[in-house]
Amino acid sequence: MSNGLLKGKKGIISGALDSNSIAWKIAEKAHAEGAEIILTNAPVALRMGAINELAEKTNSVVIAADATSLDDINSLYDQSIERFGGSFDFILHSIGMSINVRKNKPYTGIKYEWMQKTFDISAISFHKFMQCAYEKDCINEWGSIVALSYIAAQRTFPDYSEMAESKALLESFARSFGYHWAKKKHVRVNTISQSPTMTTAGKGVKGFQEFFDYADKMSPLGNATGDACADYCISLFSDYTKYVTMQNLYHDGGFSNMGMSPDVLGL
Ligand SMILES: NC(=O)c1ccc[n+]([C@@H]2O[C@H](COP(=O)([O-])OP(=O)(O)OC[C@H]3O[C@@H](n4cnc5c(N)ncnc54)[C@H](O)[C@@H]3O)[C@@H](O)[C@H]2O)c1
Repeated sequence: MSNGLLKGKKGIISGALDSNSIAWKIAEKAHAEGAEIILTNAPVALRMGAINELAEKTNSVVIAADATSLDDINSLYDQSIERFGGSFDFILHSIGMSINVRKNKPYTGIKYEWMQKTFDISAISFHKFMQCAYEKDCINEWGSIVALSYIAAQRTFPDYSEMAESKALLESFARSFGYHWAKKKHVRVNTISQSPTMTTAGKGVKGFQEFFDYADKMSPLGNATGDACADYCISLFSDYTKYVTMQNLYHDGGFSNMGMSPDVLGL
């Protein structure tokens, strides 16, 4: 399915690590819908090499940037402006990592330096992406900025640990910076709250498979796939959603509004 929804648009897509990554699917669809894209990821992720395959498929280039580094982000934008021949239309923030989860530290015994690092990578980087672009004035009128979130920002999922607070912060940045972007350039800023998805980041959470199955049963439409998330994201980059901003948008098969599901109880 391709409808040329992003024909003539240019944008930066972060977070494609391998073909399971949600960002990978978004990059493929953005390209199929006619967008010119630039891929970015942390230098360490580039060493794994898979992203070059995506770059070839989508006729794009890869520019390394650690999302916690202002210098890296500014250089990413400078290089992008040069390659695009000017400003661009959309940015995808698809970045998340919890050090405490990765190192098996329980939420009740968290290491605070790691927590701060987690916030820096998973949430403050979103503010940095937006602030650097704001200062460079490099997003076109009616552009679109999207980050990926999870419902643990609103509800308790014990094994999601400090990522819950990261997502709460991320969603708050979308609202707060969304105001400034709207006033400056009619640029919209939203977060998509996505179903559990089988990716490297997702599988890092303890008991992920069991939780994935539970969410699938709890959601009347079933878990939204990474592919479906990419379709939704494309609509947010397109001109069909120009007045949607400062929102956290659930893309979860109905999970967020469920109370009880007979499927979960086996009734
Ligand atoms: N998988 C899920 O269940 C799920 C559900 C809801 C939301 N999300 C969110 O979707 C986004 C993408 O995750 P994914 O599930 O596709 O997993 P993924 O592991 O494929 O992607 C995470 C990406 O973050 C990148 N990253 C980590 N540290 C970085 C840094 N310092 N600088 C730049 N990039 C860095 C990684 O290299 C990787 O590409 C994340 O924000 C995640 O929290 C995932």
